[in-house]
Amino acid sequence: MTDEARRLPPGLGTGPVYLDYNATTPVDPRVAEAALPYWTGFFGNPSSEHSYAGEPRRALGAARAQVADLVGARPEEVVFTGSGSEANLLALRGAVLAAGAPRTHLIVQATEHPSVLGTARALERLHGTLVTVLPVDHHGLVAPDALAAALRTGADRTVVSVMAANNETGALQPVTELAGLAHRHGAIVHCDAAQACGKIAVDVGRLGVDLLTVVGHKMYAPRGAAALFVRDGVALEPAVYGGGQERGLRAGTENVALAVALGTAAGLAADDVAAGAAHRIAALRDELHRRLDAALPGRVHLNGPAAAGLRLPNTLNVSIDGTRGHHLLAATPGVAASTGSACHSGVHAPSPVLTAMGTGRDRALAAIRVSLGRWSTPADVDAAVPALVSAATA
Ligand SMILES: Cc1ncc(COP(=O)(O)O)c(C=O)c1O
Repeated sequence: MTDEARRLPPGLGTGPVYLDYNATTPVDPRVAEAALPYWTGFFGNPSSEHSYAGEPRRALGAARAQVADLVGARPEEVVFTGSGSEANLLALRGAVLAAGAPRTHLIVQATEHPSVLGTARALERLHGTLVTVLPVDHHGLVAPDALAAALRTGADRTVVSVMAANNETGALQPVTELAGLAHRHGAIVHCDAAQACGKIAVDVGRLGVDLLTVVGHKMYAPRGAAALFVRDGVALEPAVYGGGQERGLRAGTENVALAVALGTAAGLAADDVAAGAAHRIAALRDELHRRLDAALPGRVHLNGPAAAGLRLPNTLNVSIDGTRGHHLLAATPGVAASTGSACHSGVHAPSPVLTAMGTGRDRALAAIRVSLGRWSTPADVDAAVPALVSAATA
């Protein structure tokens, strides 16, 4: 790692050990510095015809090319959006509605992000789309046979959406195989790669997908910067109507600073992937897991796949017998991590992702997710393990 890359974001380093990189990442100082001039000096509207437009227009194009490079796309195939949730909406709603076909079938899988599952339910409710939610096995993976069976349902247009990596467990879906299968049935394939981009290599050609979501705040850009890869020739209904920005798919004067931030973050992420940064992070993650296991023998259970090739290198989701995840983390204020459970009016419900994997209620409520990233260090592991162990043995 270069000295430049080691520079800590101002928000890190004084608070608890940050082990929640899947929730959001700090903004890399290099990203903030690259974006700042586009909030201040270069304020012009990129569509204007005078000279104030020149630099914003150039920067927007350069940022688009950087995002395209990260995922093996062409710049014209990148549409900037205001969030990952919006990119997922544009993909699913856009692909389902574009055909104007009488019978559309949307196939998703059970552990998708709520922005995918929520869009599917809205399409079912508002547009009569037939929705199939594929089950997953106890590792959280979709069986190709289940997709093959769903694809045999008669429909005029079929859209399939399968995430690259799960946000809670890090499980990596067999996207290439599923996309191949879907294409043999003439379906359009979307992949939510929010958690995969920047952590592992993502290439739209190798995956064979038509639409792919990229999210900035999972790879050291600010919240609110995201993009959708739209393969040339794939028709979508726009998400926002108005001016012709973003190929007419997402109207609104472009936020050049956020696009520059996303582009810069994509460039840095591509460098990380090429340099094998994931090995360092996986080694720290595995050391944390090994030490928890050693200190709490027989009580630590991994949720999600164990094999390196089936899980993101930075993610560890474990249930510790005899604990509740939210109690454990409340008793560990020196560690910032997540539970998968959602709290509704003071009652904790098991994570829908773990439930879909067939995880029992007690084990699901005991789950914690730790996720590491660019600034995680051995000292973070040294601090987190005893804190978690002491809370689990109290
Ligand atoms: C897998 C996945 N998809 C989509 C999103 C949504 O991204 P955003 O928060 O930018 O809407 C997230 C973020 O939590 C995510 O983890």
